[in-house]
Amino acid sequence: MSKFAGKTAVISGGAEGIGLSIAKALGEQQMNIVLADIDRDNLQKATSELEAAGIPVLAIALDVADESQWQAAADQAIARFGKVHMVVNNAGVGGDSGPIEIQEKKGWQWALDVNLMGVVYGAKVMVPLIKQHGEGGWVINVASMAGMGGVPFSGAYTATKAAVVALSESWAGELHRKGIKVSVLCPAFVQTRIYDSERNRPEQYQSETDNAANENSFSSKTKQMVENGIEVSIVGKRVVEALNDGEFYIFTHPNYRAVMQQRSDAIDAAFKKAAESPLLQHVANQKLDML
Ligand SMILES: NC(=O)c1ccc[n+]([C@@H]2O[C@H](COP(=O)([O-])OP(=O)(O)OC[C@H]3O[C@@H](n4cnc5c(N)ncnc54)[C@H](O)[C@@H]3O)[C@@H](O)[C@H]2O)c1
Repeated sequence: MSKFAGKTAVISGGAEGIGLSIAKALGEQQMNIVLADIDRDNLQKATSELEAAGIPVLAIALDVADESQWQAAADQAIARFGKVHMVVNNAGVGGDSGPIEIQEKKGWQWALDVNLMGVVYGAKVMVPLIKQHGEGGWVINVASMAGMGGVPFSGAYTATKAAVVALSESWAGELHRKGIKVSVLCPAFVQTRIYDSERNRPEQYQSETDNAANENSFSSKTKQMVENGIEVSIVGKRVVEALNDGEFYIFTHPNYRAVMQQRSDAIDAAFKKAAESPLLQHVANQKLDML
């Protein structure tokens, strides 16, 4: 029997795209699925699809940027399934992009509130529920390859995704003592509607300028690459495969390995330079103070 069987997963942004793909794959492992999403219509469609496949599912309308809605979602999940074992912090948006001088606070705030604080609230509310039953569980944060290295003209998206990688590393060290495994999913391009995330942009985050119209906007830059990406159903299955193997970084695009290697080579070369500096000889062999 699958180690996931009979357990409950809460998936933000689960109404379509990568979130729904993960929901289907975990449902195939006999998990109970809580789909939480800001898009009520798609939530309904996704719920019907999972139910038709015989997967126990609860749909919750949720804006991940609102901590109180997470709390209400937790109450509903417990009322329906009794326990929560996994949170998949997947909901995300492209945010504004383009040259730094045209960036506006509202665009940044949208990306920060959804891509970063949405993940923080999801863990803050769900982790205590996982700790409570003592059976262990999982926190899966959806970052991006963009979080593993800066992407020009995509400051807000890149920064939030890098933050999700960093906080996943932080939580992995914190939560393993409680039997909670943390993983961070870092896909490159996947066929979803991420390039059109403006559809999910609430009024309070609308910028003065029409960012979508600029030639470096997230939508104009990414649409074609996303459409040429891997088929979305692969991602959910890949997540199950990686969880079964206990992988922390979950990659979906092995062809990006060389890019990551270049980054780690550059970091290593920079350390070599520091080690050669006459200013730093006294630090070179100093014992490490680690938190
Ligand atoms: N598709 C890609 O190429 C790709 C690559 C790397 C990372 N990602 C990441 O994968 C995750 C899922 O994106 P996707 O590609 O499936 O995109 P998508 O736009 O198809 O799906 C995103 C889902 O999140 C929901 N959502 C948006 N804002 C929300 C909010 N405030 N609260 C709750 N739900 C909200 C949407 O309604 C939608 O169902 C995102 O975090 C994205 O950054 C995607």
